[in-house]
Amino acid sequence: RYEQNAGLLNCLAESATFFQQQLVTHSDKAKATRYLSQERGLSGQIAKVYGIGFAPPGWDNLLKHAGKRAEDQINLFQAGMLIEKKDNPGHYYDRFRDRIMFPIRDTRGRTIAFGGRAFGDEKPKYLNSPETPVFQKNQELYGLYEAKQNSKTLDHIIVVEGYMDVIVLAQYGITNAVATLGTSINSQHLRKLFKLVDKVTLCFDGDKAGRAAAIRGLEASLPVMQNGKQVRFLFLPEGEDPDSLVRKNGKEDFYQRLDDSSSLAHVLFEHARSQITLNDEEGEAQFAQLAMGLIERIPHDVTLHSILLRQLAEQTGLSQEDLNRAAPAPLPTPYHSAPA
Ligand code: UTP
Ligand code: MN
Ligand code: MN
Ligand code: MN
Ligand code: MN
Repeated sequence: RYEQNAGLLNCLAESATFFQQQLVTHSDKAKATRYLSQERGLSGQIAKVYGIGFAPPGWDNLLKHAGKRAEDQINLFQAGMLIEKKDNPGHYYDRFRDRIMFPIRDTRGRTIAFGGRAFGDEKPKYLNSPETPVFQKNQELYGLYEAKQNSKTLDHIIVVEGYMDVIVLAQYGITNAVATLGTSINSQHLRKLFKLVDKVTLCFDGDKAGRAAAIRGLEASLPVMQNGKQVRFLFLPEGEDPDSLVRKNGKEDFYQRLDDSSSLAHVLFEHARSQITLNDEEGEAQFAQLAMGLIERIPHDVTLHSILLRQLAEQTGLSQEDLNRAAPAPLPTPYHSAPA
């Protein structure tokens, strides 16, 4: 498999080097370096750690540099770096034009894809590589390689929403953040993280999308819980993301917020409460059923399952037996875990 993908990985590495070079040599480099330093406040050092680069304006900068032979063009195309011309098959143009480039690396540090940010309000704000043989976007976490490199003892990982959140946190010395790539956190991501650390904090932007993503984070967490593992939830103030917040309030404030983050139990019960549509005894029944529906997705041999059942019994005054009657029928095994 490695052999098969070596051509793609080579041209992705060459692309990363090319984009980084453009920050130093291109005639428009000032626009890019100004954006990074003035508008985003990044140091040259952190830009280097994350391999940030510049895809210049124009249709064929990368194509000309790295695609001289037909064979190279096909590799670049299969790696997601080129788009085939609709009216001229076998002819290509650069996918990433006039953008700040973020290489996405696998856990071995190899560039497998890119995210490219527009300088202004152009749409899309972030253009990402398509899925390729070396990039499955719902499995990868941006910044995981760098987090492993930069943290001597990695025992806690913070999952944030965006590239810039990861990088700015790292610049402020919080080097253990990673980001999902335009998708919400899924069970596969969490399983991967739990192989590395015992504690994962899911951090959400203070906006509607962030709050919706937290519910998906809860659902992704339940089936992967294990004894000794912990998932916490950090909700940022309205209008803030980790980038804006750490810039505004600094590192200690962010650490304080991590300390004050919500437990999975808290988020689970809050979420069940928020779903109730009735406000009398029927509402209490709804709450019991909704909470049971979530609790039952935790593997039953995990102590957290028993603890949450006991807490629900205390909150509702119901016996275990009553609660079991409130529980939805278990899903057939292949569907018992939340979708990835
Ligand atoms: P946000 O909209 O929160 O952007 O999207 P951001 O990271 O704060 O961006 P800045 O600060 O304006 O630069 C969070 C993440 O969602 C994905 C990206 O991974 C982004 O970092 N996203 C967002 C896309 O893939 N495409 C988009 O057009 C927007
Ligand atoms: Mn957001
Ligand atoms: Mn954001
Ligand atoms: Mn942002
Ligand atoms: Mn059960």
